[in-house]
Amino acid sequence: MSEFRVRSIRTLAAEFPVPGDKSMSHRAAMIAGLADGVSTVRNFLPSEDCLNTLGAMQACGVQVEVLEEMPGFGPTSMRIHGRKMELSAPTKPIDCGNSGTGMRLLAGLFAGQSFETELFGDESLSGRPMGRITDPLGQMGAKIDCLGAKPGCAPLKIHGTKLTPIRYELPVASAQVKSAVLLAGMFCDGTTTAVQPADTRDHTERMLESFGVKIRTEGQAISIDGGQVPQARDFRVPGDISSAAFWVVAAAALPGSRLVIKNVGLNPTRTAVLDVIERMGAKIIRTVLSTDDGEPIGDVEILGGALKGTELLKAEIPNLIDEIPVIAIAAALAEGQTVIRNAKELRVKETDRITTVVNNLRAMGGQVEEFEDGMVITGGSPLHAATVESHGDHRIAMAFAIAGLFAEGETVVQNTACVNTSYPGFSKQLAAVLAESKSLADYDLPVVPV
Ligand code: S3P
Repeated sequence: MSEFRVRSIRTLAAEFPVPGDKSMSHRAAMIAGLADGVSTVRNFLPSEDCLNTLGAMQACGVQVEVLEEMPGFGPTSMRIHGRKMELSAPTKPIDCGNSGTGMRLLAGLFAGQSFETELFGDESLSGRPMGRITDPLGQMGAKIDCLGAKPGCAPLKIHGTKLTPIRYELPVASAQVKSAVLLAGMFCDGTTTAVQPADTRDHTERMLESFGVKIRTEGQAISIDGGQVPQARDFRVPGDISSAAFWVVAAAALPGSRLVIKNVGLNPTRTAVLDVIERMGAKIIRTVLSTDDGEPIGDVEILGGALKGTELLKAEIPNLIDEIPVIAIAAALAEGQTVIRNAKELRVKETDRITTVVNNLRAMGGQVEEFEDGMVITGGSPLHAATVESHGDHRIAMAFAIAGLFAEGETVVQNTACVNTSYPGFSKQLAAVLAESKSLADYDLPVVPV
């Protein structure tokens, strides 16, 4: 079984990019595939999740010409021949792998087609709630059967039909649900509106707009008129701030460190992790270099310092939901308490991320109290090495690799192949960070006089 073996490091001085944004890569495959004309997508994330979404579009007749690849993983630059909103029926069920984003957005897109589609996923995805999208899509007239052993879960059998527009008040602050409704709305006559209870990532809206589709936003209500056809364009996917977050925490918690992450997405609906780490005491400098593709992209410089605990604000939670596992590591390294509440959504991610973080942190000597909607971490006591499980969850695997950089002894993170669902090349980057940094053990070697 794949594993990471990690030891403590003294400092982190580096400058590197992270691979393309996962949320945007899913959307680029779908929207370019629906567009009129040929789009060039660059810096696409060749992770298993996004390649499954690209494969789903190819299964519906979208042609993809690969221009560049990340060796060993898959295409990073490609020309996507859009179908001008006319997809063809796939010949077999579509594998969404581990990806909630892939399955939920594709369900929105397929609900309005004139054919049937079946979407399935791995064990983790087959246990995640799909009622949150089958409810609104059902209100639009779609018939979707949840065929999973667990009620309301995948596989999904989607009997595509002509949909009617709705105004839908989301019961959870979920960009996936909002996006599924808006994508389905593209195939309706009339206006479809999704009303979110709090801000969630707005990549679907921004990307549709950059492909020429008009979106109206009034407060928390986002509307789309059906019948619009996205116009092909060239789109460069920024680096993924969620992948950068692992290294941001590593550098932030090591006084004297300086790290620059190049060309990363700085969309304000995704950067709350930087606000939190800044509040905890690190110095972070963001420089926006371009907004050409409708998304701010730039460099982030992190100067490490002694961290102190903080409280995550309720309104921040949807903005940093994916970064909570690694924020929990920062909290364990900080002086004082960090309060993470109002984050019950974590229980229905790739794993129950409250329980997995709490158990693994405790195994490494962290002091954590578990709540139904989060955790309270009392930081400051030294972490020690342990053998911890990822439970097949990419962000748990990477968060605990980062914890290992601060623990005494050798930390083993088991079952780490899952990192390829979001961060191809993470293990190589980790090896480079370990090789370049002086380990505590090396540093503390007694100097033998000659
Ligand atoms: C995503 C939205 C979030 C996030 C997920 C990606 C997206 O999920 O956790 O990793 O790309 O829309 P929810 O929308 O369910 O909160």
